[in-house]
Amino acid sequence: MNRPIQPPWEPAVIEFENVTKRYPDGTVAVDGLTLVAPAGKITVLVGPSGCGKTTSLRMINRSIEPTSGRITVNGDDIMSVGAVQLRRGIGYVIQHAGLFPHQTVLDNIATVPYLLGWGKKKARARAYELLERVGLPSAFAKRYPAQLSGGQQQRVGVARALAADPPIMLMDEPFSAVDPIVRAGLQDEFLRLQQDLGKTIVLVTHDIDEAIKLGDNVAVFREGGHLAQVDPPARLLAHPADEFVEGLVGRDRGYRVLSFVPIGDLPAHPVPTVAVGASIADGRAAAGDEQWVLALDQDRRPVGWLDVNRDDVSVVEPPSLRTVGTTFTSESSMRAALDGALGSPSGHAIRVDSGGALVGGVSAVEIARHVASHGNVAVGA
Ligand SMILES: Nc1ncnc2c1ncn2[C@@H]1O[C@H](COP(=O)(O)OP(=O)(O)OP(=O)(O)O)[C@@H](O)[C@H]1O
Ligand SMILES: [Mg+2]
Repeated sequence: MNRPIQPPWEPAVIEFENVTKRYPDGTVAVDGLTLVAPAGKITVLVGPSGCGKTTSLRMINRSIEPTSGRITVNGDDIMSVGAVQLRRGIGYVIQHAGLFPHQTVLDNIATVPYLLGWGKKKARARAYELLERVGLPSAFAKRYPAQLSGGQQQRVGVARALAADPPIMLMDEPFSAVDPIVRAGLQDEFLRLQQDLGKTIVLVTHDIDEAIKLGDNVAVFREGGHLAQVDPPARLLAHPADEFVEGLVGRDRGYRVLSFVPIGDLPAHPVPTVAVGASIADGRAAAGDEQWVLALDQDRRPVGWLDVNRDDVSVVEPPSLRTVGTTFTSESSMRAALDGALGSPSGHAIRVDSGGALVGGVSAVEIARHVASHGNVAVGA
């Protein structure tokens, strides 16, 4: 059947059915790939250099054609649609942003709308909207890519891919080439954006931590274009399919799985408190036998820990307090709670409510005991 398929296909599910790509020189870049990228979810392709990630990605928009097998979008074979037509429904963020150096940021973002014949005014309005969406000031519109930092360029690359509001986004190492702190910020923004947009995203990275943070599903490739495992991140960490996957996720995986363990009914207990502005005598009275007392502001939000043994302090004030560090709420993961406990001078992680007010404290030992007694809760297996 040769029914022409028309983007947008919302929601769009992408399926690889036994897809192989052999390059003319005989290199098998992708070998018998069967994989589903579910609609509205982020599917991450991860693995060592040369294992076929980019080739797999580029077969989805037909910049590379499979040697055998089939790729479908919502069940329609992508070969039944013209490549140009197909790409209208697919945004593509290439490695290192790939901006056109001689075009302004605005024109870079408006590339696809121009191609689609939107008219200058509408295309530019859309580009300004997207600039804001990815967190860049509108003054950047007139700059050239070389006048932006690496992280800013990568934001522009994402904005450009989103310009025509495609249901599918392909992203090839979109956050590489920036330092780890900028990278973490870009990843957080990207996840927030995706919460609003709900695109079907296939994202390539060689960084397993990025894969675990961003992926609803993570497909691990190994050399020779073989798919080693595809699973949600928590399951990948808890149950690596083989030694290769275990080697890739191995480092700290027992600890990292805590990111996927909900707080659930982890009990918090009272901790000694004192109001900011009170005297150290009040602090000592509250502390009883304890060394540390938690200073609270007038809305009962934690401000810091006070060491009541200090003799150089008369009033409970921020300069003499140690930071509270990571607090957690009912929405947090066990990892946040454990991090809070390990970083706290008192040994207690602080649980707060949605308004930031104190609920109670919990120690690392209590957290560990709770996790152990609930089995491997992350994966329900
Ligand atoms: N045009 C080509 N001709 C021949 N071989 C190619 C071609 N493009 C890629 N390859 C080979 O196919 C294999 C997979 O390449 P691909 O670019 O898909 O890997 P990748 O997983 O994206 O790697 P990286 O993490 O380094 O970007 C590699 O061995 C590569 O050398
Ligand atoms: Mg690549």
